[in-house]
Amino acid sequence: MEQSQTKGLKNGLPEMNEREFFQEMCNLIVKEAIDKTTSGKCKVLNFVHPHLLSEKIDLAIRDDPASQEELLKLCQQTFDYSVRPGHPRFFNQLFGGQDLVGLAGQWMTDAINPSIYTFEVSPVFTLMELEVLCKLRQLCGYKSGDGIFCPGGSIANMYALNIARYKRCPEIKQKGLYNSPRLVAFTSEQSHYSLKKGMAFLGLGVDNLVSVKCDQMGRMIPEELEKEILEAKNKGGDPYFVCATSGTTVLGAYDPLVPIADICERHGLWLHIDAAWGGGALASSKYSHLMQGVERSNSLTWCQHKMMGVPLQCSAFLLREENGLMHHSHCAAASYLFQKDKFYDMSYDTGDKSIQCSRKADALKLWLMWKAKGNRGFDEEITRKFDNSRYMADLIRNRENFKLLLEPQCTNVTFWYIPPSLKAMPDGPEFQRKLHKVAPIIKERMMKNGTMMIGYQPLGDHPNFIRMVYCNHATTTQDVEWIVEEIERLGHDIVIPDEI
Ligand SMILES: Cc1ncc(COP(=O)(O)O)c(C=O)c1O
Repeated sequence: MEQSQTKGLKNGLPEMNEREFFQEMCNLIVKEAIDKTTSGKCKVLNFVHPHLLSEKIDLAIRDDPASQEELLKLCQQTFDYSVRPGHPRFFNQLFGGQDLVGLAGQWMTDAINPSIYTFEVSPVFTLMELEVLCKLRQLCGYKSGDGIFCPGGSIANMYALNIARYKRCPEIKQKGLYNSPRLVAFTSEQSHYSLKKGMAFLGLGVDNLVSVKCDQMGRMIPEELEKEILEAKNKGGDPYFVCATSGTTVLGAYDPLVPIADICERHGLWLHIDAAWGGGALASSKYSHLMQGVERSNSLTWCQHKMMGVPLQCSAFLLREENGLMHHSHCAAASYLFQKDKFYDMSYDTGDKSIQCSRKADALKLWLMWKAKGNRGFDEEITRKFDNSRYMADLIRNRENFKLLLEPQCTNVTFWYIPPSLKAMPDGPEFQRKLHKVAPIIKERMMKNGTMMIGYQPLGDHPNFIRMVYCNHATTTQDVEWIVEEIERLGHDIVIPDEI
């Protein structure tokens, strides 16, 4: 039968030489993502407002295939207008930097394209994942246990909420929530919003997540936790779960794990630690003390795509208990994947402990980086990130026009830039109103200049402040000095008009 011939297609396939296209793309990626970006020889971003950006790039999908030349142009434009988190001056989020071994691992994973549910289709990846999970658990001081790589810290926190619930009320898995007690969870007022999402998603209800007060440093106050637990019981709730945070998103606070673990033991509650951000401290011999007591937790979230600089995504959920709890919490025993009569050791078919079916093999890039750096390499890299934050705090503490919000705990440095125009103003509502407007202007200027990216936010009664985070391994002490100068350069002439 004769195949129809459409322009650009031959026998239904693109006419272009795909091998040649792939090679050109490799060259483009090496040039843009590695040579230009990691050397800092380009801007961090080239900001264009959305309505103009959609005019610059031909985004429409058409009936006819695009040519190789057109595709390459579109890919070049994608680089031109994308933010470059691999740039040494990207500090906007809790990820950034470009680890070339990690990138190679990511590419290799994509090239092999495995799905990690059975040993049958992912023999090497299955073993790698088990090895890396075991290593991570050792750093947590768990003597045995279980775990899984999952798509992000938010999902890892949801794993914790669900497994702890299964442990408390296993019948909910089968029967649903209809006859169950009103389970209550506790976390600090500074914790990540994924806990709220998790409570909603699992049908537990956001109202049953109690927000526990924090001290001045943003750390959960253990006495407040115990008070809330007792109060929840008095109100007929069934407290079951506490999430402590190691490295809160904004302030970088480390909750005191030892007294929190004591309280959990006293009341028979599951202790989960959200160390998505601050868990990196466990790999640093100098800063691991920040998580003293971690070994007493029941489970832990740790995103290696944050502080450890592994390419997105790489997030581990770790469990101290090993007796199949995770498997029983989630298994559905699909007979087309997990046949009972396979010819190899089926305990290596790890997929049914996941809430997913297909699952990306995120462990390889971490495993490869760890092999390449050794424990010592990660220790040095992470220690340097913490040291950089302390160095920046020293610079700011001693500099006019800057005011630290808090001494750093994790690698977050939170501070205000107070332009000379506000210096003579007495503190009060009008000063706070004006200060609130400074950080957004600095942010707008830095984005339009493209020189760097750093985040800002308000918090409680605090007006907008700048949140610097160190997780980019390329940042040197010279960069730290440069950042402070650059903020001064961007902000020194800001004048906020009086309210009319
Ligand atoms: C403390 C904390 N927990 C959880 C998360 C969620 O992680 P992810 O963005 O990988 O879902 C974040 C994200 O920043 C975080 O800061």
